[in-house]
Amino acid sequence: MSEAKIGIVTVSDRASRGEYEDRGGPAIRDYLTDVLTNPWCAVTKVISDEQPLIEQTLKQLCDEEGCCLVVTTGGTGPAVRDVTPEATEAVSEKLMHGFGELMRKVSLEKVPTAILSRQTAGIRKQSLIVNLPGKPSAIAECLDAVFPAIPYCIDLIGGPRLTTDEARLVAFRPKAK
Ligand code: MTE
Repeated sequence: MSEAKIGIVTVSDRASRGEYEDRGGPAIRDYLTDVLTNPWCAVTKVISDEQPLIEQTLKQLCDEEGCCLVVTTGGTGPAVRDVTPEATEAVSEKLMHGFGELMRKVSLEKVPTAILSRQTAGIRKQSLIVNLPGKPSAIAECLDAVFPAIPYCIDLIGGPRLTTDEARLVAFRPKAK
């Protein structure tokens, strides 16, 4: 079975300048290591909150690296420099509104400020892009909610078959293959 490539993008001015350690990107990698049982590898990036740079990075990961899934963290809030959802929408052919809706719903059970995240998801050719908030604690909370649908979504766009450790998380495939 060939290796699935997964992009992990930390969008943060301060982490990209080395002013603080990136904790979001490693938390995404740890989550995927915990859950996935198929062979996979990560392509990681830490970039500033510049919309053209975010778009360019997403395009590179989808089109050149061939990532079936790209998970971003950070830049989803209301501040002037928060533009990750705009960049995601700009490079996506289809928007997957349900991802943001569900992640906000589960996050609101934890913090009232979850409503401030404009996190979304989209499809670019054979890649699914999913935004997460920048708070490291949000990563597992959000991915636990949406990850059960991600392997089937990637099947539907012609990507590699992702499998999970069912003791940890069951991937739902309506038509078991
Ligand atoms: N979602 C979860 N699960 N946990 C959180 O702590 N923080 C919120 C929200 N979503 C949070 C969350 C806050 S305070 C903000 S401002 C927004 O995400 C946007 O964060 P970002 O700009 O770092 O992406």
